[in-house]
Amino acid sequence: MSALLNDDNLKKYEKLKKQYPKKQSLMLPLLWLFQYQDGYVSQEAMVFIAKEVDNSPAFVMSVMSFYTMFSFKPRGKYHIELCKTLSCSLCGAKDIKKYLEQTLKIKKGQTTDDNLFTYEEVECLGNCDMAPIVAINGEYHTHMDEEKMKNFVSRCKNDN
Ligand code: FES
Repeated sequence: MSALLNDDNLKKYEKLKKQYPKKQSLMLPLLWLFQYQDGYVSQEAMVFIAKEVDNSPAFVMSVMSFYTMFSFKPRGKYHIELCKTLSCSLCGAKDIKKYLEQTLKIKKGQTTDDNLFTYEEVECLGNCDMAPIVAINGEYHTHMDEEKMKNFVSRCKNDN
């Protein structure tokens, strides 16, 4: 069995195997186990998953790349996802993007040198009526603006 998964997640995986009789169905739950455990899905994890679901690592990678919640590399402590779709864009997402890129000195898909922030742009987060939306570590922040973002970033910097 995998030394890649810690004991807790190995137990979870054994339980999952009973819940998913078709091996292929285990792919997403396994991706989640690694994403939560390590903060990303490593190449070794993809190879492991491929073996477990009787498929190729390339197929696992193709499935993984479809979902923005899975990461190919470690993320910063604060994972900032800015919605770039129409409603958010019209309501000020571009200003937030500009602020983040200037303040954090990174572009989308990058992590700050201190590993504190990772900034990504995503498609519609499904809360268009409360645009613009920013998800921080998976938690949605509605009606976001530059001032709120500024407060968040300085709070994070002060806490670390
Ligand atoms: Fe941003 Fe839908 S367009 S949440």
